[in-house]
Amino acid sequence: MKVSVIGCGYLGAVHAAAMVKLGHEVIGIDVDPAKIAKLAAGITPFFEPGLPELLVDGVESGRLRFSTDITDAAGATVHFIAVGTPQQHDSGSADLRFVDAAVDGLIPVLAAGDLVVGKSTVPVGTAAAIAARIDESGSGALLAWNPEFLREGFAVADTLTPDRIVYGVDDERATGVLDEVYAAALESGTPRIVTDFATAELVKTAANAFLATKISFINAMAEIAEVTGADVTTLADAIGHDARIGRKFLNAGIGFGGGCLPKDIRAFSARAEELGRAESVAFLREIDAINLRRRERVVDLAVELLGGSVFEKRIAVLGLTFKPDSDDVRDSPALDVAARLHGLGADVVATDPQGIENSRLRHPQLAYEPDLDEALRGADLVVLVTEWAEYRALAPERVGQLVASPRVIDGRNVLDPDAWKSVGFDYRGLGRR
Ligand code: UDX
Repeated sequence: MKVSVIGCGYLGAVHAAAMVKLGHEVIGIDVDPAKIAKLAAGITPFFEPGLPELLVDGVESGRLRFSTDITDAAGATVHFIAVGTPQQHDSGSADLRFVDAAVDGLIPVLAAGDLVVGKSTVPVGTAAAIAARIDESGSGALLAWNPEFLREGFAVADTLTPDRIVYGVDDERATGVLDEVYAAALESGTPRIVTDFATAELVKTAANAFLATKISFINAMAEIAEVTGADVTTLADAIGHDARIGRKFLNAGIGFGGGCLPKDIRAFSARAEELGRAESVAFLREIDAINLRRRERVVDLAVELLGGSVFEKRIAVLGLTFKPDSDDVRDSPALDVAARLHGLGADVVATDPQGIENSRLRHPQLAYEPDLDEALRGADLVVLVTEWAEYRALAPERVGQLVASPRVIDGRNVLDPDAWKSVGFDYRGLGRR
């Protein structure tokens, strides 16, 4: 099939390359000429394991092309909308300007029988409004809403072999087209859920709200553990054995960040308010508040460990990205903690395997050191805030030889407290004895 993907950011670039792998001919469209030039040359503009190979294969095969001109989408029969829906700063609601622009751009190129497929995360009710606009255009094209659940760091696998595929449709012809698009994935047994627009939109919003809730739940337990001497990691292991609860997404630490969970729960709250149902998701404000408190907790612990002030103390901050295997620092708790410590006058030296470049754009005032040993050298305190494999594997003896004083805050609860304490470290986890 001939497919267009409008928006070649994180979601769109991965989706475009994956569509080629599923056997289609793809044109990726984006308004940013620099991004399109890179993608067309087979260069991935961000860090994502497995994507560079997929992109190069696609471009070299001639079945993956890129353009800044949306009229180049003409001739494709399926048009994916994969643009961003950022948070509006005042209200927290989703900014739909890029979605609207994509629809505006597509309408003139649509032909009868074409299918427009929304992948962006949008407030419930958006798809129905877009369907009405497409209908009014008289093109005879249809709309489907087909949310994306990919995780950064696993985006390629999540796109090629997702846990489930959800179609929101109001016409069974759309289901037929999507079955063709995803034939290769469906053959391997991926569950497919066909529903209406509103449910499809809500599946995505509800999934992210649930995941955020799970994380903030265990972080709330960490707060209780901190004042009772209990250990939140053992608690998570124990409750996680209950299959109804499950151990995944129960890792207490400095909380969630990234381009999705924080903005999606805020947009959900804003949408519920518009719908007159603010109280139904009032708990999400608490989920957000618990999440943000964990960052403060790390800063408070740093102050405490350093005898009441971090001023002019050298602090090695390990990790800047919102999670490992990503270069994404959007709403990153790690980068936030680094900036807050710097704001309190600490001599912060921050390191990260992939996140330095993006962090520098947001916080040029921080000192960045790509070499881990150099970042650790002479530190009065080590703060681990993103659980990259190389930080999890750090040998406490070796770190002890590099630092000025053996103090460590394990903001992700991934180090072995006994091993660090046994070589003289003052170790603090979050919600851990
Ligand atoms: C998330 C959803 O998982 C994905 O389905 C959706 O499509 C987009 O949003 P992503 O943002 O890539 O994906 O990250 P995810 O792996 O979900 O992690 C989100 C944040 O939660 C990270 O900051 C991570 O460190 C944190 N987290 C995760 C915890 O603090 N504890 C956990 O137990 C799990």
